[in-house]
Formats: sequence, structure tokens, C-alpha cells
Amino acid sequence: MFRSPSALVVGLVLLAACGDDGSMENAGTSTGTSTSGVGSSGSTAGASGSTAESGESTAAASESTADVTGSSTGPGGVSYSQDVRPVFASRGCIVCHHDNSAIDIDIADPFGPPNGLVGSVNTWAEAYPEGGTPMLNVQPGDPEASFLMNKIGDPDALDPATAGGHMPLNLAPLTADELADLRAWIDAGAADDATFEQNIRPIFGDETTLGGASGKCTWCHHSFPGGQRPNLTDPFDPNTGAVGVASVFDPDLQVIEPGNADASVLVTKVEANEVGAFGGPMPPQYEALNADEIELVRTWVAEGAQDN
Ligand code: HEC
Ligand code: HEC
Repeated sequence: MFRSPSALVVGLVLLAACGDDGSMENAGTSTGTSTSGVGSSGSTAGASGSTAESGESTAAASESTADVTGSSTGPGGVSYSQDVRPVFASRGCIVCHHDNSAIDIDIADPFGPPNGLVGSVNTWAEAYPEGGTPMLNVQPGDPEASFLMNKIGDPDALDPATAGGHMPLNLAPLTADELADLRAWIDAGAADDATFEQNIRPIFGDETTLGGASGKCTWCHHSFPGGQRPNLTDPFDPNTGAVGVASVFDPDLQVIEPGNADASVLVTKVEANEVGAFGGPMPPQYEALNADEIELVRTWVAEGAQDN
């Protein structure tokens, strides 16, 4: 599948640069070439400037690969973004429990104080101390001290007079697997791993892993001379980054518009299969983002493209 003629040229350059064993020894050289070849911005001097830098960092890249794989999984093997948020989303919790909803417990953003599910005070324990229910809705590290487990666990053990209704209210109860995942997540500390550093940085790559298996973008979109804009090693830079920065293709659109994945050129480009109004699909010559990666990028943008 040829995505664009220029991607083809770049692909050939990459093949020529790789050894027979497929090693990326000369990846630095092809970085320089590809940046000026495909695009628009790489000057020869700039490109060779970045050659040395990225060549050096290639070795570091292959060593760090193991770190990145599975990094979003907590000690119990359960992760908020992979295992817990999908339960909250698919079981109706966030329909009824979001910021400004009538029920003052936020499950859409469970980590935001003061009313995020994690760490918020159980209103039933406050109003009816005689019920003996846990003081907090989620006590990180302690499922037994987390009222959430009472609300979604055995319905018969819940006294409606002092603990309210079983959750999800009026809907089918959680399965044993879902309950086990939520318990394991609380047990492991109820951490938020749906962050830029955990989920998005490994897709984009960073300054020390240019061309490395951990990232698919910073090989070209880096901060060294000759780097293609946007600089995805620091997408939050208001001038050279992506978040809130106008697209070169259309100044009315942002490369990443926080909260609006559909309007973000970056999302359009990672989902594209062919050259369109916003240039070629991204990444050229690297394997395209898989469905999970696209979903992570979309979610991160939709949730405000935060630097966390
Ligand atoms: C149809 C709307 C609805 C759905 C769906 C729903 N809830 Fe609730 N939830 C409520 C209402 C109303 C209350 C307050 C009354 C009560 O506690 O019974 C509540 C209370 C709670 C409380 C107690 C908070 C406190 O401090 O009193 C927790 C915890 C909770 N829900 C968790 C969940 C979880 C987890 C889910 C998804 C598995 C969920 N809810 C789904 C409506 C809903
Ligand atoms: C092999 C080099 C290369 C790689 C790898 C690469 N890009 Fe690009 N990128 C370019 C070039 C060249 C352009 C300008 C031409 C174009 O847009 O087609 C560009 C343009 C862009 C733009 C348009 C910026 C704007 O102002 O609208 C975005 C967004 C983008 N890339 C995102 C990414 C993302 C995200 C990845 C990783 C998934 C990635 N790129 C990987 C070379 C690359």
C-alpha cells in the first residue's frame, strides 16, 4: 500500500539505510534525509545537524523498549485506563455521575478534587454514621474501606436506609470479573494511568528514543535542527508544539484542539489512509497507529490534551 509518492521515496531510503538484519544502525542518516525529502521544512544543514544527535540516541532507544511495553499496567496487572474506565463508561456510571450532575460524585473524572470518586467522602456515612459504611468512596490501597465496593457488591448486604441504592442504579449489576478488576485497581492504589506520560508519550516517542520502537513520531517531529513541526517531544510548547497551535494547512484549525478530537488535525492525520486536504497520513514509513493507539490519542485529546 503506497500512501504517497514521497512516503515511497522515504521508504526506499529507509530500506537502504537498514542493514540486512534490519538493524537501524543508520537511522540517524535516514532521519535527516527523510525530513527534507518528504517535507517542507528540513534544510540540508539542519538535517545533518540532527543526524549526529539521533544516531547517538538510537542505541538508547532499543534498550528502553522493554520499559515502555505494559507501562500502563499497575502492580495487580490492572490499569485504570485499560480495565477500570471502560467499566465506568460501559455500565452507565458516568452518565449519572459527572461533574455538575445532580449526584455530586464525579466518575467521569474520578481523580479531580473535591468530588472525584477517588478520595471523596461517602455522603451516606456522613448522614447516617450508624450504618457503619466506609468514610470514603474509594480509599486507595484498601477495597474494604471503599464504599464503592459496597455499592457495587452484594446487593443484599446493602441497607437502603443507611447506604442508598445498589449501583449501577436500576441497571444490571457488574460481573464478577468487573468487580475483581475494580477491587484489584483499588488494592494497587487506585492510580490514574490515563496520562500523557503513560499513554501518549510512548506513541509519540521522546528525545532519547528518536526512531526507537517506543515511538512513531519523534523520529521526524523532534526539537533538533531540521525537526519537522510540530515538535512532538514537547507538544505543549505554545509556539513549536501541537496543543492549541494553528495547523500549517489551515490557520483556523489547531493541530490539537483540547476537548475536540474530531477538529484536531493530528487526529485526522493519524486516522487517514491517503493524502488529503491536510497532507499525508501520519506517520509516513512507520507502521500506522493501531486501533488502540488511535483510541488513546482520541481520548487524551477529548479529555483536554492535558500535560500530565
Ligand atoms: C441511573 C443513574 C445512576 C447510575 C447509572 C449509577 N449511579 Fe451511582 N448513584 C446514583 C444516585 C441517584 C446516587 C445517590 C443515591 C444513592 O446513593 O443511592 C448514587 C450514588 C452513588 C455512590 C455513593 C456516593 C456517595 O458519596 O453517596 C457511589 C459510590 C456510586 N453511586 C457509584 C456508581 C457506580 C460505580 C456506577 C456504575 C457502576 C453508578 N454509580 C451508576 C445514580 C446512578
Ligand atoms: C518520517 C517522518 C515523519 C514521521 C515519522 C511522522 N511525521 Fe508527521 N509530518 C512529517 C512531514 C514531512 C510533515 C509535513 C507534510 C505533511 O503534513 O504531510 C508532517 C506533518 C505532520 C502534521 C501536520 C502539522 C500541521 O501543522 O498541520 C501533524 C499533525 C503530524 N505530522 C503528526 C505526526 C504524528 C502524530 C506522527 C506519529 C504518529 C508523525 N507525524 C510521524 C513527517 C513525519
